[in-house]
Amino acid sequence: MKTRTYTPTPANLRRLAEALQQGELVAIPTETVYGLAAHALDERACRKIFAAKGRPTQDPLIVHVLDVAQAEELAEFNDTARRAAKKFWPGPLTLVLPKKSCVPGIVTANRDTVAIRSPGHPLTRKLLRLAGIPLAAPSANLFGYVSPTSAAHVLDGLDGKIPHVLDGGESSVGVESTIIDLTNPAKPRILRPGSVTASELEKTLRVKVLLHAGKKPNRVMAGLLAPGMLSQHYSPRTRLLTTTNLADLPSDIGGIFLRKPQGRTKSNIYWLSARASLKEIAHNLYGVLRSADHGNHREIWIEALPENSGGLAVAINDRIRRAAAKITPRSRKRVH
Ligand code: TXA
Ligand code: MG
Repeated sequence: MKTRTYTPTPANLRRLAEALQQGELVAIPTETVYGLAAHALDERACRKIFAAKGRPTQDPLIVHVLDVAQAEELAEFNDTARRAAKKFWPGPLTLVLPKKSCVPGIVTANRDTVAIRSPGHPLTRKLLRLAGIPLAAPSANLFGYVSPTSAAHVLDGLDGKIPHVLDGGESSVGVESTIIDLTNPAKPRILRPGSVTASELEKTLRVKVLLHAGKKPNRVMAGLLAPGMLSQHYSPRTRLLTTTNLADLPSDIGGIFLRKPQGRTKSNIYWLSARASLKEIAHNLYGVLRSADHGNHREIWIEALPENSGGLAVAINDRIRRAAAKITPRSRKRVH
């Protein structure tokens, strides 16, 4: 299959909206990461997503909608969910709610809940408006690999496997949306941390929010909360190790610093930010992991943020930990 990349001209947006209506896959830019989109109410179209990504069908998809009105056609909202949507949509927050019968089982892995969000990226909002349909879209990468934050990243994994990619520039946030389970509004649970933080949610929802994701990914998995919490996820192919000390980096190891190191410009040195701002680190994380993965290093060592940093650091550490899940006890000892 030939993959075509589209610039966001009005004619191209109309063409891509039609392709989506007809059941074709389109990779779309969002503010978090790029998504691989299909008509969410068309079972055959959604099956193509799993085939292109090599994703197991037990892993449910997120449905992207224009607004709360469209979301309420697909899910049973409660007042807490309405409050969350009113405050954080459009934006990087996904709500898990009881699904309505129009949502096909392929989207939800036959669960009775559906994950929904209204993305903020202006081009994807235009596409949603033109197509007039909800779009099921997981991240547009091969299953298990690092999520894409540019059209070039999408092509890196899916060139020849999908027909259309809409180029909307770099994703501004850089890590996937926060997923919150609101099926029981008295006990909201964060299934995946993101840039909308637990304390922001607590302030808006006026109820304690539990953080389920994070420490024990495999147990979360066993509890069938969010299969995206698979311990080995978002991983580069080169073995990745976390460390608190990148001094004396061997020359055959790629080193990812949180902050640009002074006066060092060797080809095995990477950094996530110029000033160690959390937003910048999140924005650059996946791109830098990809560059380091392509750098032909024996291993990649990455600096983790201090465990007690709050806010966006929770999501960044979560992704670093999952990307580094291939650590063996032996190699971990070498680093610490
Ligand atoms: O920012 C994002 O959320 C991006 C962009 C494209 O919107 N999407 C994304 O999709 O990260 P994906 O498939 O890579 O992750 C979706 C996550 C998976 O962990 C999946 O298990 C979870 O959402 N999920 C989907 N439906 C669910 C449900 N009914 N209950 C619990 N988790 C669900
Ligand atoms: Mg993903």
